Order: sequence, then structure tokens, then C-alpha cells
Amino acid sequence: MINIAIDGHVGSGKSTLAKGLAKILGYHVLDTGAIYRGLACAYKEAGNPPINEGNIAKFVKNVDVRLEFEGDLQKVIVNGKDYTPFLRSEETSLLTSKIAPYQVLRNKVLAIQRDFAKKYNCIIEGRDIGTVVLPEANVKFFVTANEEVRAQRRLMQLQDKNISFEEVLKDLQERDYKDEHRQIAPLKPAKDSIIIDNTNMNLEETISYCEKLIDEKLAKSN
Ligand code: DC
Repeated sequence: MINIAIDGHVGSGKSTLAKGLAKILGYHVLDTGAIYRGLACAYKEAGNPPINEGNIAKFVKNVDVRLEFEGDLQKVIVNGKDYTPFLRSEETSLLTSKIAPYQVLRNKVLAIQRDFAKKYNCIIEGRDIGTVVLPEANVKFFVTANEEVRAQRRLMQLQDKNISFEEVLKDLQERDYKDEHRQIAPLKPAKDSIIIDNTNMNLEETISYCEKLIDEKLAKSN
């Protein structure tokens, strides 16, 4: 199977890039952040116990995660409940960032991701795909852009018109710091990642640039 890893900063457009490339190439796409988010929703539903190694391990032991795909939509069903509508809330984002660093939880998600990669020609996007999940991926991208540009993009996407550019920028800087400085699976480019800085590129340009790089890389390995 052909596996393409996409990691990168918040607001770098990696999800949209993954979906765009998947459409062109006819590959499946896996949004790994959504799996961590679904697990956070189920953790809350399980009584939201204090976050520590023991409670996370207990939660993970019997947890059942199922993914369903409907066109572009990836549904995340945990312990039989579909959490898809709740994945993107601020509350879920906050809880996800607290539980995602635990190794025992990451191991659970690791198995799901590798299983997917074995079954399909696919693009998997997240934070540690090129470094930890798929070290043998055929192509690895690390997507980034200048932080003001990423904050501006996020501001445009947000429904809440009361939030200022400065607040969005501060939130983004905090998330970057957390992603890059956590002990387990920090966000960083793999040694063989291709860095895509799309500060001065729009989505279409980023997609066609990456498509060209994928073609070249795959042609070389054939
Ligand atoms: O990409 P996202 O914003 O949906 O990610 C949600 C959270 O999950 C964020 O706190 C980072 C974490 N995450 C992770 O630790 N590893 C991944 N492969 C993907 C996401």
C-alpha cells in the first residue's frame, strides 16, 4: 500500500490538503486528530475522571473505536456512540490536548492508524505520523506557514465573530508550544520530511505542488 504522511502546525491547512490530495489520487484519508477528539468525548462521557496515567489506562483498556466514512466526512464512534457532531467544540479541543500526550492512549490510536495504513492507499494526517506512526511512509510532508497567516486563516473559519485576531494568535502560539514541547511524540518534521511552507501559497497551489512531489517521489521508488 502507498502511505503518505502529513504532519504540521495548527492552521497550516493540512486537513484540507490531505482531503484535496486524496480526491486527486483516489486514496483514503485519515484525520487522526478526530480519533483523539472522539476519545476525549468518550472520556468525558465516562465521568471525566481526573486525568492521570491510571485513569487513562483504565479508560483505554475496554474502549472500542470505530470509524465510518461518508464522502468527505469521517465519523468517530466510541463505545457505540457517534461523537462526530461534538469533535470540534472548544471543550473537546481542551480535553483532547490534555489526554493526547498519554502513551497508553497513543498506543491505542497507533494500532488504529497502522491498521488503516495496511489496508488502504492513504493519506494520514496528524502530528507524529512521519516520525512515529509511519516511519516507512512513501512520502512525508511537514506543513507549516507563518503564524500570523495561520491565525488569519483560523479567524476566517471561526463562526464566533467576537473573537479578535490577537486572541486567535495567542491560542495558536499556545497550541504550537504544547504540540512541540510535549515529551511524548512532539510535533517535529521527520528527517526525511518534505517541508511545505505555504505562507505565500493558496490551497490549490499547495495541493498541486504536493501532487507533483508525490509523483516524483513515487516514480523514483518504482
Ligand atoms: O489536529 P487536531 O487539532 O484535530 O488535533 C486534536 C488534538 O489531538 C491536539 O491536541 C493534538 C492531538 N493530536 C495528537 O496528539 N497526535 C495526532 N496525530 C493528532 C492530533
